[in-house]
Parts: sequence; structure tokens; C-alpha cells
Amino acid sequence: MMRIDIATLFPEMCERVLDESIIGRARRAGKLDIHCHQIRDYTLDKQKRVDDTLYGGGKGMLMQADPIFRCYEAVCQEVGTRPHVVYLSPQGEVFTQKKAIQLSGYDHLLLLCGHYEGVDQRVLDEIVDEEVSIGDYVLTGGELAALVVTDAVSRMQEGVLAGEECFMEESHWNGLLECPQYTHPAVWHGREVPAVLQSGHHANIQQWRREHSLENTYRKRPDLLCKAQLTAKDKLFLRRLKERIKAEGAAAGVASPPDEGEEQ
Ligand code: ADE
Repeated sequence: MMRIDIATLFPEMCERVLDESIIGRARRAGKLDIHCHQIRDYTLDKQKRVDDTLYGGGKGMLMQADPIFRCYEAVCQEVGTRPHVVYLSPQGEVFTQKKAIQLSGYDHLLLLCGHYEGVDQRVLDEIVDEEVSIGDYVLTGGELAALVVTDAVSRMQEGVLAGEECFMEESHWNGLLECPQYTHPAVWHGREVPAVLQSGHHANIQQWRREHSLENTYRKRPDLLCKAQLTAKDKLFLRRLKERIKAEGAAAGVASPPDEGEEQ
């Protein structure tokens, strides 16, 4: 079973999220071993301080090296080996499904959450294996990022998702967005579920799903198409789709979507 430790000043915040839903269920079923640690518990300071002012001057406070290092040591000691240590920071490599797959291959991760203006560089140099960002924006701390990484990595572990199938499909994630999906009733607010999906014709349904997945990707995230695995049939469909959209756009007097990245 995979183990994930989260070192944070807000363990309750992390626990609240990780107790719920699919991850909470998987933890209770013994499919995931997740631990949240209060870094403050590892300070030797009588006032339990974990931050201090910046050398060289400047506004704000920095998390000190020692409490973080002692927390790391405690985790290493408990498990008997050192975990792969990830520091969540906006300076890190941007998190993607590919990175989630890569991290899901480790037996044991330690996710380190920074706060205040950051963390003393020396403890990062001493223990961190890689730095990961969840996107180009700045959060107040690494907790939400650690939760995002934990969720994405956990759902790939065996026995976490109820239908094995969901995970199998996505572990071979084809790099395309999903097609639209529908459930009952067949007509809602005058909007009807596409007839082919109600037809029970398996091959036609498969083709409809593939084509709408391609169309969705082309319209919403054309940049993904250059990395996706496309068949000759997919490429032909996309060429026709582009022509159709151009013609529709020309008729309506609007510009067509950007042309970048849609060819392999
Ligand atoms: N901490 C603050 N901002 C962050 C981000 N974008 N990703 C990961 N950790 C962060």
C-alpha cells in the first residue's frame, strides 16, 4: 500500500479534506496510508515558534529549517527508509497527469507544505527531491497543492476507485478531453440526449464518443492535440471538423479557433 505523509502547519485542514469521499473511503478500507503531521510539534522552541525574520532584511517571515528537518527525520525513522520528498511551491515543475503517474510509482511520498514567505533554503537543499507547482498562481500555502497532488496520485492506487475500469481507462490517458455525457431523463428542458446514445448500437456509440472527444479537445484545448495519439481516421475527422467550423464561422462572420498545435 502506498504511503503519503504531509508535513504542514495546518494538518487539520488536510485531514478534513482527506477524510471525505473516495480518498476517505479508501483510507478506511486500508487501501491508502496517509498521515498529516504538524510541523510545529517538531520545534524545540519553548514558544513553539517555527518561523523567523529574513537574513539580509526584508518584510515577512520564513519557516525555519530545523522543525521541518526533525519532522522529516521522524517520518524516516517510523518507516525505516527515506520517502521521496516533494516541496509544493509556485517555483516547481507544473503538475500534470504525467507527473501524477510518475509520483504514483513511489512507495512513499512526503509532501512538504510551505507557508509565510517560504522556507529556509538549507532544509530544501538537504531533503527535497523535487519541487512541484499546481499552476501559475500563488496560494497562501502549499496545503491545497498537497491535497491536489494527494488526490491525483491516490486515485491511481489499486482498490481506490470502485470501478477498476475508470482507472484503467485513465491510466492510459489518451490526452484528449472527454465527450459530453448524459443520464436520465432522455429529454430535459426540451434538450434531448443524442439519438445514437439511445440506440444501443455499440460501434456507432464508440464512434460518436471518439468524434465528440476530438471535437471537445479541438474547441476547448487545441494545444492538447499535438501530444495526443491520433489515428488516421481521427486526423481525417479533425480536418473535416476544421473546415466545418471555418465555414460556420465565415457564415457568422467570426474568426475560427487558433490553428496552433492541432496537427501531429
Ligand atoms: N504554494 C503557493 N502557491 C503554490 C502553487 N501554485 N503550487 C504549489 N504550491 C504552492
